[in-house]
Amino acid sequence: MLSSLWTRNTSTSRFPTFREAFSSLAGRPLRWVPQLFLAFVFFLYFRPTIFGESPVSIEHFGDLPPPVGHPHRPPLYRPPTASANDWKIRAHSVRDAFVHAYKGYRDNAFPADELAPMSGKSRNNFNSWGVSIYDGLDTMWLMGLTEYFDEAVKVIGEADYTTKPHQYVPFFETIIRHLGGLLSAYALSADPILLEQADKMGGMLLPAFDTKSGFPMYAINTRTNETRGGWTGNTLWAEALSNQLEYKYLAHLTGKPEYFEKAERCMQIMYEADVTEGMFPTRWDTQSGLPSNSQFSVGAFADSAHEYLLKQWLMTSRSETKIRDLYLRAVNSIIERLLYITPNREILYVTDAEIRQPNRSIPSGSFEHLSCFLPGLLALGAQTLDLPQNEKEIHSWAAEGLAYSCWLSYADMQTGLGPDVMSMQKFQKAEDGLWLPRVEKWKEEGRKEGHLGCGSLAPQRHREIIRFIRKSAVATGSECFRSRRTLESFYILWRTTGDPQWRERGWSVFQSIQKYAKTELGYASVVDVDRSSTTAPVKDEMPSYFLAETLKYLYLLFTDEEIIPLDKWVFNTEAHPIPIFQWTDEEKKLYNISMDL
Ligand SMILES: *[C@@H]1O[C@H](CO)[C@@H](O)[C@H](O)[C@H]1NC(C)=O
Ligand SMILES: *[C@@H]1O[C@H](CO)[C@@H](O)[C@H](O)[C@H]1NC(C)=O
Repeated sequence: MLSSLWTRNTSTSRFPTFREAFSSLAGRPLRWVPQLFLAFVFFLYFRPTIFGESPVSIEHFGDLPPPVGHPHRPPLYRPPTASANDWKIRAHSVRDAFVHAYKGYRDNAFPADELAPMSGKSRNNFNSWGVSIYDGLDTMWLMGLTEYFDEAVKVIGEADYTTKPHQYVPFFETIIRHLGGLLSAYALSADPILLEQADKMGGMLLPAFDTKSGFPMYAINTRTNETRGGWTGNTLWAEALSNQLEYKYLAHLTGKPEYFEKAERCMQIMYEADVTEGMFPTRWDTQSGLPSNSQFSVGAFADSAHEYLLKQWLMTSRSETKIRDLYLRAVNSIIERLLYITPNREILYVTDAEIRQPNRSIPSGSFEHLSCFLPGLLALGAQTLDLPQNEKEIHSWAAEGLAYSCWLSYADMQTGLGPDVMSMQKFQKAEDGLWLPRVEKWKEEGRKEGHLGCGSLAPQRHREIIRFIRKSAVATGSECFRSRRTLESFYILWRTTGDPQWRERGWSVFQSIQKYAKTELGYASVVDVDRSSTTAPVKDEMPSYFLAETLKYLYLLFTDEEIIPLDKWVFNTEAHPIPIFQWTDEEKKLYNISMDL
C-alpha cells in the first residue's frame, strides 16, 4: 500500500501531502471521522442496554464504608464500563444473573417458596413462607438491589410463622435458610424488623429441642408444638450441629439465655460422647443421645456439623475453646482416614467409611459434591488456628488438593458442571490409596516434585476414574446447583491463598451455568451433567440456595474488594454471613464460657 502510494506520487514527481496520504489510506476523504463519532455517541447512549444494567433503579450510596461495624451498608454499586477490568464486568454479570432469577421468581411465583423456571409455576415445597425471599435477602443487600430488599423486608414483616393444623416445618432447613437469612440480613442492614422476626421464628422453633437428649426433632408444627421424626428415625449429625451459629448469635442479640442453652446442649452431648478419635458417626439416637451407627462421613448426613465446629469458635471470637478442640479431633481423623487418592491420576478425594474396629475402616469410594465444602473449611482452619507448622501444611495441602479435585469433577464433564456423587476408582487393597502415609513418605524422601494428591493434572476425560452416579428418582438432585459447595471452597481458597486460578475456575463454572441452566424465566437444575448435546436435560426447579449460595459466592469471588472479610464474618452453611462478636462478661458468667486455652 505504502509503496504503491509512493510510486504513484513519484510519477507526478511530487511528495504527497499528509492529507492526501491519509485519505487514500482510508479510501474516502476522512469520511469515517463523523461515522466514528456517531458510533461513539451511540455506544454511550446504549451502554446500559449492552451491558445489561438491572431493570430496577439502584439507589447510590456514598463511598464504600469500611466493611466493619454495624450496620454494614451495601457497597456502592457502579455498573462497569468497557474499560473497567474483567472482574468487575464478571461480577456484574453475576448480579445480572441474580436479577434474572429473582425477577423470574418475583413475577411468577412470589411469595411462594420457589419458582419452577420452565413452566413459570410456583412451588411450595418448604413451609410456604417464601423461602426464596429469605434466602435471597442478604445477596440483594450485598449486590445493592435495595428496591428488591425493601420489598422483601415488607413481606417478611407481615409474616406470622404459624403453621397450618397438620403442617410440619423441617427444623434444620428452616434454621439454616430462613433464620440464617434473617440474621444475616439484620447484621448487614440493622433493620429492626428483621431481628424482631428472627426472634419470633427462633422462639417458635425452639420446642423442637424438647426431647429426652436435647437433640432437635426433625420437624415441628408451630401451632401446637407437636414434633415429628425424619425418615431415618434418628437425628443426623448435621441436624444436631447446624443451629448453633444462628441460636448463639440470636442469644447474643436478644439476651435470651434459652437460645444459647438449647443449642449448647447438643454441643454438651458431643463433649461427653464416647467416640473414638474424633470419628463422630452420622446417626444418633434422638432420645438417648447416643451414637446409633458407625458411618464416618463428611457428606450429606454430616457435612455442616464440621463447619459449625470451626465457625462457632470463630464467631464467638475464639472464646469457646472446647469447640476448637472438637473440630481438630474430627478433622484430623478425616485427614487420616477418609482422604484417598486414585491409582492412575492420583486424584485426591474424600469419601465415607464404615468403622469396624478403631483401626479398621472400609471406605465406600464415593465422593459427594456436598463434601466439596471441606477444602474451604480446611483452608479457613489452616489460616485461623494456631497449628504447628507440620499440621498447618497438611491442612493446607489437603484443602488445595481437594478443591482441585472438585474442580476436576466439573472440568471432566461435557457441560463443565459437576455431578452430585462420583464413584472413585480404588486401589486393589483400599488402604494403599490412603493419602496421609503417602505425604509422610514423600516428605521423608526430600519433598521432590509437587505434593501428592495435589497434582497439576490437566482436566481430561477419563471415564474409568470419575464415573458419576445418577441419583435415583427420589433425589432432590440437581447437579448444577450443587456447585454451591465447590464455589464456596473456590471463594475461601481465593481469599486465603490469593491464587487467581480459583477465580478463573469459578468463572468457567458460571459460564456453564449460563449456557446450560438459564431459562427464559430463571435457572433450572441440570439433570445430566455429562451430556454432549448443547442442551443438557434440565429439571423444572430453581432451589432457593441458588440465590443464597451459588450466586453469592460467585459475586464475592469476582468482586475485588473483600465485602465480607473472613476475619469479621463467618458464613453459615447456607452462605448467610454472621458477624464475629464477643461475649460480654455477663454472658460469659451466665453461660460458663471459659477462655482457657
Ligand atoms: C409452644 O411453645 C412455646 C414456648 O416455646 C409456648 O410459648 C407456647 O405456648 C407453646 N404452644 C402450645 C400450643 O403449647
Ligand atoms: C455453670 O457452672 C455452675 C457451677 O459450675 C453450674 O452450677 C451451672 O449450672 C452452670 N451453668 C451452665 C449454663 O452450664
